Amino acid sequence: MSIEECKEIAARAALAEVLNEMVLGLGTGSTVERFAELLSSEIKKGLRIKVVPTSYHSIQMALKYGFEVLPIETVDKVDLVVDGADEVDRKLNMIKGRGAALAREKVVAYMALRRVYIVSYDKVVDKLCSTKPVPIEVLPFAYNYVMKKLRELGGEPELREAGRFKDGPLITDNGNFIIDVHFKPLDDPHELESKIKRIPGVVEVGLFCGIADVVYVGRPDGLEVLTNS
Ligand code: 5RP
Repeated sequence: MSIEECKEIAARAALAEVLNEMVLGLGTGSTVERFAELLSSEIKKGLRIKVVPTSYHSIQMALKYGFEVLPIETVDKVDLVVDGADEVDRKLNMIKGRGAALAREKVVAYMALRRVYIVSYDKVVDKLCSTKPVPIEVLPFAYNYVMKKLRELGGEPELREAGRFKDGPLITDNGNFIIDVHFKPLDDPHELESKIKRIPGVVEVGLFCGIADVVYVGRPDGLEVLTNS
């Protein structure tokens, strides 16, 4: 079974949590795209929901599938957030931010009454930072200082480049830079998250600790459900 099919298994499990009239935080990324596609079929059958997007990518999905959108600025609560992740440990700590949407994703997660994450099996690790760096959104003018402080915390920071269509750094939906930081596999992601958050110039950290209520993991042999109980 392909990774794409595993993403669909996780997305279907999240779909079962969506109830009529819910306000839904819509995450970012390819797994959420699968979820959005499935959701659009339910809407065609009569399900009524509104979505709060977590990025311009998420707005594009909402427009593509004809979802009613509530701008993030206009809400302080959502019933359910459904989002992807880059790494998940078995205590439900996560790394997010490959899509550079971590700041809005975290704000919407904190607004949510229930937080559901959907991943394929390759995202599950024993310790965070085993395979991925931690993305950090920073104020552009502070990036050199923040990189120095991240090195003092034992990290190897790298400013994320925009790539093919723009020279220089990637600019987030909020007009900031992203620093990807490689750390040795983490024993205490909570502690690292707090330390990074205290560096002036840091907007948000892609460590999501103690946030998820459930992570649905799509595996070739079916669904695995990780909960925080
Ligand atoms: C974006 C994210 C995504 O949710 C995360 O990167 C997962 O994406 P995908 O489902 O494409 O693997 O955090 O900032």
